[in-house]
Amino acid sequence: MTAMTADMTQIEPVRAEPAQIGPAQIEAADHAARHWQFPMPGPLRVGTDEHKQAACRMFHETFNPYKPSVIDWPKLDPAALERLTSLPIWDIAVQTEGKARLRMASYAASLRDQEWRDALALNAWEEGRHKEVLSNLVQAYGIVLAPEPNYVEPRDAEWAYLVTGFSECIDSFFAFGLFEVAKRSGYFPPELVDTFEPVIQEEARHILLFANWLAWHRRRLPLWRRPWFEARVAAVWVFLAWERIGIARGMDAANGKPADNNFTLTGSKAVSDVDISPGLLMAVCLEENDRRFAGYDSRLLRPTTTPAIARLFCWFTRKRHANTVEGAP
Ligand SMILES: [Fe+2]
Ligand SMILES: [Fe+2]
Repeated sequence: MTAMTADMTQIEPVRAEPAQIGPAQIEAADHAARHWQFPMPGPLRVGTDEHKQAACRMFHETFNPYKPSVIDWPKLDPAALERLTSLPIWDIAVQTEGKARLRMASYAASLRDQEWRDALALNAWEEGRHKEVLSNLVQAYGIVLAPEPNYVEPRDAEWAYLVTGFSECIDSFFAFGLFEVAKRSGYFPPELVDTFEPVIQEEARHILLFANWLAWHRRRLPLWRRPWFEARVAAVWVFLAWERIGIARGMDAANGKPADNNFTLTGSKAVSDVDISPGLLMAVCLEENDRRFAGYDSRLLRPTTTPAIARLFCWFTRKRHANTVEGAP
């Protein structure tokens, strides 16, 4: 294992200089990042070259060229500052972006297919940019971070990419809902919420790319390799479930370094002063999930597992509620 190297992502996207960026350009870039259609008419069969081209072109052509260094961090009143600095997420958020960057870059570098390689390398670069945005934020608001660990290159790049990809599918789904709850509650100033909007939309693009890479990869695998790959995917889900139901948290806490991997599931209290039921939070997550993907070509596949679990949860809570009301004296 080696420490992270600076040139892992290989791609340096072309970005406009700050002087060239005005409100009209920012709005145009934001619109382009959320809307995209593949020009080829007709159905798009999973696993075809056209499917790959559509996924990769979507990713490049929706790239948002914002620069973290020019973000103007709004001044917060003491109460909002206290709420922001006391969120238990900053260490894990910065480290998650650092890990995601390296893992995606490692997997991209292992690929022979140039189109996937470039798209995944750009994804890695964007994770590095998220880390920069977060690092600037913590600096701007005086949040003290724990020392970062050494990011080590994974020995098994495919496994690491699968863990990161599925992990983003779960966390982004809840982040969409929590972000909307934070926005509606007015718990944080709108300028701060707006600053994070492109980062959240970028995560939607990331999991859209991942869902299509996964479907394409599955279809292109020779039959004899599929059982092993599916076993790995199942193992990733078991690992992530284990991590999220708190076993990892307990173990980390025992080591003296609590890690809140469950913030995406439990964080509604930290972003709103109104008590939101888990059922309502799931409903907001589902709405936001649909809204964030609505502008992209409908022939591209969307992540399905976390929304399906959330739908099942909503159905179950509605049924339980109906039974309680019916059985009420
Ligand atoms: Fe990220
Ligand atoms: Fe991401």
